Amino acid sequence: MKQSLIYFEDIFTILNDFIKDYKGKITFLVDENTQIHCLPLVLERCKDLDAATFLEIPAGESAKQIGNVADVWGGMLDLNLDRNSLLINLGGGVVTDLGGFAASTFKRGITFINIPTSLLAMADASVGGKTGIDFKGLKNQIGTFSLPEMVLISPEFLETLPQNQLNSGFAEMLKHGLIRDKKHWQNLVALKSLTPDNVAPYIQSSVEIKRKVVAEDPKEKGLRKILNAGHTLGHAIETYFLNQNIDAYLNHLINGEEALLHGEAVAIGLILEAYISAEKNKLSSEELEEISKGLLKFFPKRNLPTYAEIKNYLLQDKKNENGEIQFMLLDKIGECDSQSIAAEEEVIEAAFQYYSNLEVH
Ligand SMILES: NC(=O)c1ccc[n+]([C@@H]2O[C@H](COP(=O)([O-])OP(=O)(O)OC[C@H]3O[C@@H](n4cnc5c(N)ncnc54)[C@H](O)[C@@H]3O)[C@@H](O)[C@H]2O)c1
Repeated sequence: MKQSLIYFEDIFTILNDFIKDYKGKITFLVDENTQIHCLPLVLERCKDLDAATFLEIPAGESAKQIGNVADVWGGMLDLNLDRNSLLINLGGGVVTDLGGFAASTFKRGITFINIPTSLLAMADASVGGKTGIDFKGLKNQIGTFSLPEMVLISPEFLETLPQNQLNSGFAEMLKHGLIRDKKHWQNLVALKSLTPDNVAPYIQSSVEIKRKVVAEDPKEKGLRKILNAGHTLGHAIETYFLNQNIDAYLNHLINGEEALLHGEAVAIGLILEAYISAEKNKLSSEELEEISKGLLKFFPKRNLPTYAEIKNYLLQDKKNENGEIQFMLLDKIGECDSQSIAAEEEVIEAAFQYYSNLEVH
């Protein structure tokens, strides 16, 4: 499977060069925030995009659903897009996942480009060719493997990204270090604070880690599964929060805490699954402590649902085999087992207990 070209510099020149001679129609997919904060910047820098149109979806994870894909398909038909048309996904992971899915299915697939604007999308979601949407309250159930023509990454967009969204993307970067590169993990946890300037120099290393894993195993038959570290429990916790009706949800919020973002859920999942790695795999207790401390430095402890409350979501995880809940577990910091490993209920419950007993310094 060919790989997408990924650019980190002069992205507006590269985009201009690509579209200058582009024969088909060009449409942007944005969400309500990136339409305001990011689209003007691109249009200002790329004069050849004067004739481009744009389609918009609502912002946030709750927008990653089939109704919005149908609206995008409908918008593409209304704009008379054909097989030669180009969709430019300008946004966070929701826009790149949903836009990639819409493009890869419209008229059996049109070309698309990802311009990620959140840290999470720059460091992770826009790269690797997984597209998709949530379905029936479950994460990423419907989708395709479909590569963008190119991915254009510029930290300039991070200037308008809310702080909690920056933190959320940082969790996936920490994951890259934990599964493949101890030095990357150490560089990241050593940061004094999370600002666009502080994190920008490390985006490329994160992308490089993901790119290499995907190149070896594009369709997630083996090695690519390590990118799901922290995600078995992370997804279940994220889904639990997404599916709460507002009253039940508010009962879970303490001191005005906000909803749990994808990366924040992954950060919690990484701690819980590090505990399981120490119980079921080779991770030492010293490294378990280093991981917990490193993650708590940037992701304050949250009130979690109980294991019983998320069990049903865990049972839907795509990695499960024969009814057993499977995890991607660490051997040590920088090394993740590429075989998923089942964990018993008692071990998972003990992981929740471990998290709730962690001391905040
Ligand atoms: N395909 C993959 O391989 C992959 C990998 C990891 C995560 N994901 C998916 O990515 C999604 C999460 O991505 P996300 O965290 O980017 O979420 P998101 O797309 O919802 O973006 C987060 C928020 O930031 C706003 N935003 C984005 N860029 C902005 C900017 N420059 N200025 C101001 N606001 C901006 C968005 O409007 C949104 O409100 C999840 O659905 C997750 O499942 C996919």
